[in-house]
Amino acid sequence: MEKVLAMLPTISWKDEAVILIDQRKLPQKEEYLRLKSVEQVARAIETMIIRGAPAIGLAAAYGLALAVRQQKTEQNLDRSFEKAYERLWRTRPTARNLFWALERMKTVFQKHRRQGLRALKDIMLAEARKMDEEDLAINMKIGEHGQRLISRGDTVLTHCNAGALATAGYGTALGVIRAAVAHGKKIKVLADETRPLLQGARLTCWELRRERIPTTLITDNMAGYLMKKGEVSLVIVGADRIALNGDTANKIGTYSVAILAREHHVPFYVAAPLSTFDFSLQTGEDIPIEERQPDEVRRIGGKLITLPDLPVRNPAFDVTPGRFISGIITERGVLRPPFSRAIKKFAR
Ligand code: MRU
Repeated sequence: MEKVLAMLPTISWKDEAVILIDQRKLPQKEEYLRLKSVEQVARAIETMIIRGAPAIGLAAAYGLALAVRQQKTEQNLDRSFEKAYERLWRTRPTARNLFWALERMKTVFQKHRRQGLRALKDIMLAEARKMDEEDLAINMKIGEHGQRLISRGDTVLTHCNAGALATAGYGTALGVIRAAVAHGKKIKVLADETRPLLQGARLTCWELRRERIPTTLITDNMAGYLMKKGEVSLVIVGADRIALNGDTANKIGTYSVAILAREHHVPFYVAAPLSTFDFSLQTGEDIPIEERQPDEVRRIGGKLITLPDLPVRNPAFDVTPGRFISGIITERGVLRPPFSRAIKKFAR
């Protein structure tokens, strides 16, 4: 029998507000915030109070529900909706799930527009909640498909946080790990710390420790050494956007891990829902890569580690070519290379 492991409430709706855990504060503080305006939701996404592709999409969906529910009269409803939509659209450029969620909410808004404001208030919130529930179910399916790739005694290396915190709960890459554990497989996890914002050290380690999944933290530059020593059985990461040929944008540093894995004959898997696929892009070449504030690199946990005005680069994501990916784990099963044909089928 499968064990059900504890799940985190990443985001929820209560008393006309969006409730979420402040991920910037973890693991030192478990603080929940109540967001009562679209602007607050947009800023939460920008400042990474909430982050991770599917979670960003859910925040945006609840944000649009909030926009409609705060509307007092029919007058200007379309304009306010459009304004909220545009504001949320401009928060972070890379994760496909954000735009997927906004487009889905807009389609529902337009479809039911003629029913009037009162009906729309319920319809929009119901849709956001549905997306939330669906994401959790999708993660569990990804976990179930992916766990077959993990054997007893394996050590799985992961980068960044593609866990419960990055989704409605359970996670994509970490969902696969959770499912393997639920199937009774004794495994270990190596978590890359993931500079500059340390999602691996702060979030992945915190999540896995809560469930007593044996996890060891390494700095990002240690993966090659450990692979060479035969200490990594496979790599599983999440994704922010996947092009038709399998090219995958994910947290900066993923590309380097993929190259290391190829050199050392370590299988490299991506776990992601269909909402992460961008069917309009042939290759990863055109995936917009977010550049964030230089201070994220100049500082660690707020503490300056270099000269205050030193020029830095801070791309938040990179693109791993599909040819380095052994398989893409989705809710519909594991895709194998060459990816184009399988991914095109999903587009229909
Ligand atoms: O900048 P972040 O923390 O939002 O980046 C998150 C990642 O890169 C995740 O791996 C990705 O969004 C997948 S989350 C299931």
